[in-house]
Amino acid sequence: MKNLKDKKILMIICGGIAAYKSLETIRILKKSGCEIKTILTKSSKEFVTPLSIASLSKGKVYDDLFSIENESEMDHIALSRWADVILVEPATANTISKLAKGSSEDLASTVILASNKPIFLVPAMNVRMWQHPSTKENLDILKNYSYKIIGPEIGEMACGEYGEGKMTEPVDIVNRINDYLLTINKNKKLKALVTAGPTKEYIDPIRFITNKSSGKQGYELAKSLSRNGYQTTLISGPTNLKIHDEIKLIKVETTEQMFKETQKNLPVDVAIFSAAVADFKVVKKYDVKIKKRDELNIKLEKNVDILSYVSNHNSKRPKLVIGFAAETNNLEDNAIEKLKNKNCDMIIANDVSNKSIGFDSDFNEVTIFYKNNKQEKLFAKNKSLISDEIVEKVNNQLN
Ligand code: CTP
Repeated sequence: MKNLKDKKILMIICGGIAAYKSLETIRILKKSGCEIKTILTKSSKEFVTPLSIASLSKGKVYDDLFSIENESEMDHIALSRWADVILVEPATANTISKLAKGSSEDLASTVILASNKPIFLVPAMNVRMWQHPSTKENLDILKNYSYKIIGPEIGEMACGEYGEGKMTEPVDIVNRINDYLLTINKNKKLKALVTAGPTKEYIDPIRFITNKSSGKQGYELAKSLSRNGYQTTLISGPTNLKIHDEIKLIKVETTEQMFKETQKNLPVDVAIFSAAVADFKVVKKYDVKIKKRDELNIKLEKNVDILSYVSNHNSKRPKLVIGFAAETNNLEDNAIEKLKNKNCDMIIANDVSNKSIGFDSDFNEVTIFYKNNKQEKLFAKNKSLISDEIVEKVNNQLN
């Protein structure tokens, strides 16, 4: 598992019967060349000992928030920054609940709360605890925070019951982390471009034509692409949204500006056009504010189609061009027409007649239409989760 070589893994072992298997995970991670530090929660010490973990991992074992803060060597923030990956194994129902609430009552939860690194949770618990609606809700919250969940599996549990809740085998856990790092490594060489938000077309210096787009879906897509390793550029129309520094943000107002910035930032490997571009612009903008007494004569003309320009570019067409189609009716026909007419590889269509999701909402439900006539529905969920699913499809198409 060569993607794990020299990777720094922070293992958090929680108090469940499956904790004993973490020794095997540590053995495989060590064999793959990882450096390991471990945090033991209070109850995990009923199942594994600091001595056994330290001997196998050849790394430091921490267990107490306050003793670590007294150590000048590494505080909890430094510990969370040190890691390339955080692995919580086994993740008990109690830990999952604490993390979903953003608790910081012990070292493990504090380090996770302070972390900006990929976090893998490996749930293991009794089948009834796993099926309990509160566990499901907590996991949904954590998925929205982009935590990666491995398992659980169906099988016989230590408590004697049979069902879903059994911890994934250590070798499969390590494989999942290795695959994730492989994708990130490949993506680091790739460039992504996203357009987002509305555009404005000025009529006079203070009045303009625009639309209801909030830009949320595009911003979430840019964040997800960046989390997945892509060098990401976000070209955004006017929004109130913020984005982190790893993403190159270019703010524009008009379609013409969005078009120029898109041209400047080609070539890229993948381009996602989520902007709700104003289809028309004013032929001759008034230089001064229009007065009531003026006789209005506003003529509109079609704007350049940024997506079509890029998807039909003969030398700089990205490997993957993805368009959006926000429709109020005939979703499938319109989406398929756009897929063809705009020469896209994928069209992500959403029904904007439903007022509670889509435009200006935190939620979205979309259907992806592919060139090979395949279609796939991503059911209603938070825009950040939808973005992660879309980017997973992008990863599959590019790799
Ligand atoms: N798009 C673009 N430039 C434009 C218009 C649209 O890049 N001038 C992109 C959008 O970002 C989206 C896709 O094209 O990815 C479809 O946009 P949409 O507004 O749904 O389609 P239109 O071509 O404008 O068709 P219509 O408004 O007639 O449905």
